[in-house]
Amino acid sequence: MASARSFGNYDLSSALADLIDNSIKARAHSIDIKCIRKDDGPEVRILDDGSGMTAVELHRAMRPASTNPNEERAPDDLGRFGWGMKSASLSQCRHLTVVTRQNGALSGASWNLDDIANWKMGVLDPDEIEAQVDQRLLERDGTEIIWSMCDRLSEYGQVGGRGFNDLVAHAQKKLSLIFHRYLGGEEGLRKLRISFNGSVLKPTDPFLRNHNATQAQPKEVLNFDGQPIGVQAFILPHYSKLTAGEHDQLGGEEGFVRNQGFYVYRQHRLIIHGTWFRLVRHGELSQLVRIAVNIPNALDAIWKITLDKADAQLPSGLKSRLKDIVGGLKSRSGKVFQSRGGRIREGTGKTSVWAKYVRNGEVRYYINREHPLITGMLEDEDRDRAKAFSAALGIIEDCFPIISIGEDYSSRPEMMNQGVLDRDRFLDKFDTALPSLLLHSGGDMKALRELLASTEPWASQADLVVKHLKDKGWW
Ligand SMILES: Nc1ncnc2c1ncn2[C@@H]1O[C@H](COP(=O)(O)OP(=O)(O)O)[C@@H](O)[C@H]1O
Ligand SMILES: [Mg+2]
Repeated sequence: MASARSFGNYDLSSALADLIDNSIKARAHSIDIKCIRKDDGPEVRILDDGSGMTAVELHRAMRPASTNPNEERAPDDLGRFGWGMKSASLSQCRHLTVVTRQNGALSGASWNLDDIANWKMGVLDPDEIEAQVDQRLLERDGTEIIWSMCDRLSEYGQVGGRGFNDLVAHAQKKLSLIFHRYLGGEEGLRKLRISFNGSVLKPTDPFLRNHNATQAQPKEVLNFDGQPIGVQAFILPHYSKLTAGEHDQLGGEEGFVRNQGFYVYRQHRLIIHGTWFRLVRHGELSQLVRIAVNIPNALDAIWKITLDKADAQLPSGLKSRLKDIVGGLKSRSGKVFQSRGGRIREGTGKTSVWAKYVRNGEVRYYINREHPLITGMLEDEDRDRAKAFSAALGIIEDCFPIISIGEDYSSRPEMMNQGVLDRDRFLDKFDTALPSLLLHSGGDMKALRELLASTEPWASQADLVVKHLKDKGWW
């Protein structure tokens, strides 16, 4: 029992999640979690209004490995190894008490790691139960789990202190995500209410499906080993379209980029998120892609679900199927990463039209005043005209539609058409610019050729430029 503490890799949120799984299985509608301050360290209480247990059931449930992992489970059973309640609780505390009520009959039992030498489970008598239990359990069925002597949690300091508040806030966020489908009553699930230290958890939808800029791809159902696996990809809105709250919701604490990838649900309860299972190389897909995968619990063994239900491995037979889905997405959103016209190439030794500077974390795009065509205009002998031109450049820069470009580029990259595409129009503009460029080169042909070879957009279209000049007899 003492070694059960180290099973799995629980933290507060995954330990609580394991207990919530049990409450869901017991058909609870409402779960109340509280971290309270006690003289001997923090105490955590998790109360549900589920079906509760009889004394016999409770005593069996308190036993390690109370259920056979190979036994078939009801489809809504989120349990796995018959260890959760014990190992999750003892990963956080030294003293576990369970009080439960079914059909009006109360029973209670406990494990105390400091008094386990004689290998006896504590059975609570009615007085002890009444002294400890939440008053609500005296009126209706349900179960209360009490963690006391929370040595692992005391490491975060006093309840109410900063470290502890951070821990609770983190667990609240995590649970809002892990159980978002239950909290929202989605997919025909019984709607679950969870309150945690007084705040009612709101569902955190990692796909932001309510946002009108989210692109939901069609749902697919893969048949795997006779079991259905639902897969649906979402392309999130570009961050410029998000409010700070939405951005925070999607990025969580780990950041937007870290959270791209697969979101694997087991019976609608999130077990893994933000991984590509090495199916996708970094940068191959947009950071905005997230794919929901829903697996039934009948496939637990194949997915190698870990004891703390916080990890699983992608079955090799499923790899190629998911790879196909990702491949289809790549052609839609991967274009975001293809370079197109208008890219600013720094350090190439070429004179660009657009330039940018990054200062104090700020990025600004501006028109390169060193560009010969621009310089020519700015040096116009008519000073008023030159000034007006300079003002126009400033306005163009100030009003550069950066947000709109970003949005279009992230949602419809294949439709962006800004590069040099039309040959005739390009040469037409080239002819118009030539006198000014020749002037800039001091009328020297050799200098002009060098200028063209090192200045955009002509440098990138060297073949076209050379041919055109040869046709004119200038090369
Ligand atoms: N909140 C609860 N309400 C009713 N029954 C519960 C509750 N928590 C645990 N149980 C019972 O205790 C058993 C053991 O739970 P657990 O150790 O988490 O293992 P598992 O969930 O894998 O069966 C459960 O199968 C369930 O019958
Ligand atoms: Mg369980």
